[in-house]
Amino acid sequence: MTQEGKAESGRSQGRPEDFPNQIVLANGRHVALRPMGASDRERILRFARSLPPDDLLFLRTDITEPVIVDEWIADLERGNSITVLAEAGGGLAGYATVHLEQARWTRRVGEIRVQVAPPFRGNGLGRRLTLEILQLGQSRGIKKMAAMMTPDQTGARAAFEKLGFQVEALLQDWVVDRGGRPRDLLIMSYDLEGLTNRA
Ligand SMILES: CC(C)(COP(=O)(O)OP(=O)(O)OC[C@H]1O[C@@H](n2cnc3c(N)ncnc32)[C@H](O)[C@@H]1OP(=O)(O)O)[C@@H](O)C(=O)NCCC(=O)NCCS
Repeated sequence: MTQEGKAESGRSQGRPEDFPNQIVLANGRHVALRPMGASDRERILRFARSLPPDDLLFLRTDITEPVIVDEWIADLERGNSITVLAEAGGGLAGYATVHLEQARWTRRVGEIRVQVAPPFRGNGLGRRLTLEILQLGQSRGIKKMAAMMTPDQTGARAAFEKLGFQVEALLQDWVVDRGGRPRDLLIMSYDLEGLTNRA
C-alpha cells in the first residue's frame, strides 16, 4: 500500500497516530487533535455541562446525560460515528463528529456535528475540525455531508456557509429544542466529491 493509501485507511479507522495532533489557532493557542474513545466519557460530560444555555438548547442529543454519552461511545465502537476531540490546557476546546448510517438508504450522506467552547471560537478551530471530519467522511465513502441546525442558530449558519456548506432544506416544526419547543430544521450540505486535501 502507498503511504497515501496507508494514511487514508488509518484515517478512516480514526487512529491517534493519523491525526496532526498539535495545531496552533489564530490567537496562538496550542490545541491537540485526537480521536475520541471510551475513556473520554467524563471529559465529554464536563465539556457539555459547561456549555452556555443557548448552545444546550439546540443540542441534537442531550450530551449532558451520561446515558446519551454511553450511546455515543457505543456508536464509536461500532464504527457508526467518528469523533475528533480538540484538547487544550487539560480540558476540551471542542469536538467534531460524523455519524455514518451504513445500513440506511441515506448511507451516502454523513451528518456532521461541530461544537467549539465559547472561549475558543473565532480562531479557526471550527474550520479545522470540520475539515478533519470532511476528510474522514470522504475516506469512508460519504458523498455528501449534512449539517443540521435551527434557523435561530444564525452564527452557526453563517459559519457553515463560510466553510462551504449550502442550504439544502428547511423543514417546518421538524424538531423540538431542549425546552420542548417545536423549531424548524435547517439542513445544510457539503458536496464531498470535489473535496481535495488542501486546508
Ligand atoms: C459554529 C461553530 C462550530 C464555529 O466554530 P469556530 O471555531 O468559531 O469557527 P471558526 O473560527 O473556524 O470560523 C469558521 C468560519 O466561520 C466564520 N464564523 C464563525 N462564527 C461566526 C459567526 N457567529 N458569525 C459569522 N461568521 C462566523 C468565521 O469568520 C470563519 O470564516 P472565515 O475563515 O472565512 O473568516 C461554533 O460557533 C459553535 O460551536 N457553535 C455552537 C454549536 C453549533 O451551533 N454547531 C452547529 C451545528 S452542528
